[in-house]
Amino acid sequence: MAVRLGDTAPDFTAETTEGTVNFHEWLGDSWGILFSHPKDFTPVCTTELAAFSKVKGEFDKRNTKLIGLSVDSVESHNTWDKDIAETQGQSVNFPVIGDPDRKVADLYDMIHPKANDTLTVRSVFVIGPDKKVKLIMTYPASTGRNVDEVVRVLDSLQLTAGYSVSTPVNWKDGDDVIVAPALSDEDAEKKFPKGFKTLKPYLRVTPQPNR
Ligand code: BEZ
Repeated sequence: MAVRLGDTAPDFTAETTEGTVNFHEWLGDSWGILFSHPKDFTPVCTTELAAFSKVKGEFDKRNTKLIGLSVDSVESHNTWDKDIAETQGQSVNFPVIGDPDRKVADLYDMIHPKANDTLTVRSVFVIGPDKKVKLIMTYPASTGRNVDEVVRVLDSLQLTAGYSVSTPVNWKDGDDVIVAPALSDEDAEKKFPKGFKTLKPYLRVTPQPNR
């Protein structure tokens, strides 16, 4: 069955490029991002794995662990990593799951048979410290993901987890945010000491509260 927002992220034990990982145990109290790559030795995946590795520090700052997956063996991933380093100037610095029997890919419904019946799509699952799935993205194999967008949505998720706010279109860290409609004006005044602007009763904006 498909994994949906709010579900507990399915747990698994798998071999990775950094040893055996029991997913929930490995996540601990951190946020996590599990993302799939259709296959080893493919061009778009080569660029993605290096790009995520280059900004791993941004994920560390956000208490977020990265873990990749590709439906090939760990040995194959390790050989591929040499090409990644050679062509992108960066080797992979987080675990990549070896999933030749597609156990984890099936658990997370990463194979979409109408796209391809053996390779995964490019899935991204953002998982909170409570192990619940907070966000899912699905890209076709031909479209590489945008690392900045993954960091941006992580910022939004972490902000909205801590405050009664939502983030508007194109929001990025530091921009004004939207006061949750469920909050009364009275409660919003207490919660947001910097104040808020009422454009419509359902559209109230306030400076980012954790800044
Ligand atoms: C790629 O990473 O470039 C790719 C992988 C599978 C199918 C198509 C493209």
